[in-house]
Amino acid sequence: MKINVLTLFPEMFTPLQTSMLGRGLEDNKWQLNLVNFRDFTSDVHHHVDDTPYGGGAGMVLQILPIKKALDSLPSKGRVIITAPQGHKFNQNLAQKWSTEEELTFICGHYEGFDQRVYDLADEVVSIGDYVLTGGELPTMSMIDATVRLLPGILGNAASPVEESFSHGLLEYPQYTRPEDFNGEKVPPVLISGNHQKIADWRHKEALRATYLQRPDMLENYELNAEEQKMLAEIKEEEN
Ligand code: ADE
Repeated sequence: MKINVLTLFPEMFTPLQTSMLGRGLEDNKWQLNLVNFRDFTSDVHHHVDDTPYGGGAGMVLQILPIKKALDSLPSKGRVIITAPQGHKFNQNLAQKWSTEEELTFICGHYEGFDQRVYDLADEVVSIGDYVLTGGELPTMSMIDATVRLLPGILGNAASPVEESFSHGLLEYPQYTRPEDFNGEKVPPVLISGNHQKIADWRHKEALRATYLQRPDMLENYELNAEEQKMLAEIKEEEN
């Protein structure tokens, strides 16, 4: 997968070139093309913004440098603008994007875009109901969530399938040594060696975590008969 990012701050993108994603870049499992749209200005001062028509405080990012930067790409794939007014990013969208051959993100900074910039994008996406100083951190979050789903990025190929959100429930709790930490013991079933019991326990605890921490997720989740029984037990145990 190739990912282009149009940004005024390409130097911010080191986190994506570190750890698992960094190794993925080295192994050519994905490509990252950072484009500074300030390079596509024609005035001496390389301005990318201007005062808003109609007056008011602040500056507005101009369409021309962004359009020229976009047109300089040999191909673009799906074009995404990150902005607080977009629809909300989630695991489903990461999964969908991970099947694309190419993605292009446009990051704003400090100020808003000229409204006509939105016409250049296929999608406007937000990471949550809060405002950041720029689209760089949201873009990095979205790229991380997407790229880690590509084949060969994570060490353990099974892990993205089992994790939170991928099957509609949060993840079950995990433990490793020591078996006893200041009297807080690892649940005995996990050291029982009984694989069926361990799988059942994990399933129920995933359901419990979701019920306690994200009950809203259960509204869209179809419980099978076994899960209905588990949930009834959980409610009893928690009351
Ligand atoms: N840019 C600034 N805030 C943002 C947010 N919450 N989501 C996406 N892009 C943004």
